[in-house]
Amino acid sequence: MTAVPVALRRRAEIVAADAASGPLVDTHGRVHRDLRVSLTDRCSLRCTYCMPEQGNEWLARTSILTLDEIEEIARVAAAAGVRTFRLTGGEPLLRRDIVDVVARLAAIEGPAGPVEIAMTTNGIRLPEVLDDLVAAGLSRLNISIDTIRRQRFADLTRRDRLPEVLEGIAAAAASPLRPLKLNAVAMRGVNDDELVDLVQFAVDSGAQMRFIEQMPLDAGHTWDRAQMVTREEILAALSERWRLTPVPGRGGAPAEKWLLDDTAHEVGVIASVTAPFCGDCDRLRLTADGQIRNCLFSMAEYDLIPVLRAGASVVSDGAPIDRAGAIDAVLRASVRGKLPGHAINDPAFLQPQRGMNAIGG
Ligand code: 5AD
Ligand code: SF4
Repeated sequence: MTAVPVALRRRAEIVAADAASGPLVDTHGRVHRDLRVSLTDRCSLRCTYCMPEQGNEWLARTSILTLDEIEEIARVAAAAGVRTFRLTGGEPLLRRDIVDVVARLAAIEGPAGPVEIAMTTNGIRLPEVLDDLVAAGLSRLNISIDTIRRQRFADLTRRDRLPEVLEGIAAAAASPLRPLKLNAVAMRGVNDDELVDLVQFAVDSGAQMRFIEQMPLDAGHTWDRAQMVTREEILAALSERWRLTPVPGRGGAPAEKWLLDDTAHEVGVIASVTAPFCGDCDRLRLTADGQIRNCLFSMAEYDLIPVLRAGASVVSDGAPIDRAGAIDAVLRASVRGKLPGHAINDPAFLQPQRGMNAIGG
């Protein structure tokens, strides 16, 4: 019989003692239905607000979750009521098995039926893989595009690849995936003179533009409140061009939406800093190296690696280890530990160690 580490046996006992079922409800009554799955910390761009130019410490390839591991976690999460998996990165399309990831996750059913698979991407490589992703079961796409000016794009992302991103957006516009959302982080002196152009570009592409207030998540720790373009400024800039009518029924969604004039076109603003929406948060995050985070800004991570890679399949009395139960216990511990909100606006706020590329958007 395989010798089993004591720690593992103890974990099995904890799981048994801590057994719980039903949805992932935290101590503030929030039900968690959305798991953001970061598939890699690698990216084909180097956005200045996300990654340093050089010297980024990449996750070791061996610590990145395999497709089997991701599926195992996702099945447990779905059984606990998670309904949407949003694939992020870094850049999720850099994973060579991305089509299989989508296919395997899209096949999962939870108590409320099949799960939904969404993806946030920089758009590069979409023309190559989009048909396969749709056939595999992808249901929604968000594409990040902070500027449509080529030199500016090259400066901001440190890569001259705007044409490829535009081809990706065109491919998405030609696909059946709707609503198609384009995301831009609004930045002073970088793209704040371009907000109207971005919205017009989105309208022309059959997409919905969404502006995100910049959050303190950059790997270089250079975020500065004074540099931040606020929701109010974004609305003021757009009001110069369109009459904005609020769209009711936001629910727990991060974006507030407005209709442009009398058209059916919408624009969204994600005011994470000046109007936080933590009270409605239904999200958990899985990093590419197997850590559950209950918030972008959390200091704690809940490690799934010991459960996934312990190596033993039975405990000393020969009973199979309840891996699903152990994963479920880690998810529930993370949900139990969730704070009511982020503290970006608190003077004592500390930025998390990981950059956005290693957390997942
Ligand atoms: N603040 C706000 N949004 C950010 N993103 C990356 N870093 C930040 C930040 N510091 C956005 C990306 C992408 C999504 C994954 O998160 O632009 O749209
Ligand atoms: Fe890549 Fe997105 Fe980070 Fe830009 S924001 S470097 S596209 S992960």
